[in-house]
Amino acid sequence: MGSAASHWVRWHDDYDQPGSFLAQRLRLVTGHVAAAIAARPAGPVRLVSMCAGQGRDVAGALDGHPRRGDVVGRLVELDPANVADARERLAGSGLEVVEGDAGTAAAYAGFLPADVLLVCGVFGNVSERDIRRTVSALPGMCLPGARVIWTRHRRSGDLTPTIRAWFAEAGFREVAFDAPEHMEIGVGVHELAEPLFTFV
Ligand SMILES: C[S@@+](CC[C@H](N)C(=O)[O-])C[C@H]1O[C@@H](n2cnc3c(N)ncnc32)[C@H](O)[C@@H]1O
Repeated sequence: MGSAASHWVRWHDDYDQPGSFLAQRLRLVTGHVAAAIAARPAGPVRLVSMCAGQGRDVAGALDGHPRRGDVVGRLVELDPANVADARERLAGSGLEVVEGDAGTAAAYAGFLPADVLLVCGVFGNVSERDIRRTVSALPGMCLPGARVIWTRHRRSGDLTPTIRAWFAEAGFREVAFDAPEHMEIGVGVHELAEPLFTFV
């Protein structure tokens, strides 16, 4: 990648280094996205990825997936070079990649509620307040039984226990939480288990 590449383009370079932290994280995320697609009922599977980067996780999950043809949806990414890269990776799939601000509801218009939502590489880059607001907004973006796949580093002041509690409070059931000892990363999978409210 040339020196003119943006920070968020260069951030992806480590994906190409076998054994790197990002390459290992990618394997975990890709497996969970593929499983989330497989778990959905027959018919179209709507997928949304926030701050999608180069879409490597989604492309990896679709590669050879028996339900590849069912998957439709949208990846939202701000960096135009990453958008171009993701479009190339996902060409021929049912997914579109748009250049836009993933922090606005308009970015997902027509694609919500979704079956599978990716929030990867986001919670390590925004404030605690914004993580909590995002988690509490997720039920409104999800079909019943939809899965959210998310990541967050576990460095000093590990916030992942708190984020997992916020998911529970928002009505999600934890399907998986990967926290490999040798990696300072947490990969969470949460499934929407409860409607927004139930009359008492
Ligand atoms: C840490 S990377 C994660 C990329 C991808 N989700 C992954 O895990 O491989 C964060 C990405 O968010 C993008 N980004 C930052 N702010 C954004 C925003 N407001 N809306 C959409 N994308 C944004 C950056 O350009 C960058 O590609």
